[in-house]
Amino acid sequence: MRAGLSDSAGGERTHGPRPGSVVVDAQALAERIRQLAAAISSDYAGRVPLLVGVLKGAVFFVSDLMRALEVPCEVDFMAVASYGDATSSSGVVRILKDLDRPIEGRDVLVVEDIVDSGLTLSYLLRTLRARGPASLEVCALLTKPERRKIDLPIRYVGFEIPDRFVIGYGLDFAERFRNLPFIAELEERGG
Ligand code: IMP
Repeated sequence: MRAGLSDSAGGERTHGPRPGSVVVDAQALAERIRQLAAAISSDYAGRVPLLVGVLKGAVFFVSDLMRALEVPCEVDFMAVASYGDATSSSGVVRILKDLDRPIEGRDVLVVEDIVDSGLTLSYLLRTLRARGPASLEVCALLTKPERRKIDLPIRYVGFEIPDRFVIGYGLDFAERFRNLPFIAELEERGG
């Protein structure tokens, strides 16, 4: 169950969840994304990768990443819902929006915001692999290795972070805070 947020309309939060200490600032994000894009551009030279952005959390990451790529590329999106409570997933995943086009024979690069237990990504990879792509790799902006329940091959990782719930740069808590230009810990504060 997701907790309700209470703040005055458009005003400053006086109580309830809010951004706490910064985990990755905007400059570090930009620099790391530039490095990831350089590695991907070199690995995919001569190919046309299809980036699969996982909605909604990966929107900023996939758009910044693809603007920094030096190889021709395409993008498609999937939206999945992972059943669970506000801060952990159960591994039971439902596809809310599927890809627009088949991926058979394509070099697919799944672009994820964060890999926590790995259950969502594991389901997604199984589903995509069954469609016969030429290759299937993952680029995750963040991972929380301590929380991993399944060993997954993640080819490109932006940052490994400790076991904290984080928000910003696409990541939400109850749909809020996606628009923060940096990644911060969620701070729970009583009112
Ligand atoms: P997993 O199945 O446990 O790996 O969960 C992956 C999904 O849970 C991510 O794609 C996010 O949507 C969400 N998630 C996991 N950890 C966080 C977090 O710290 N902040 C925001 N969303 C998170």
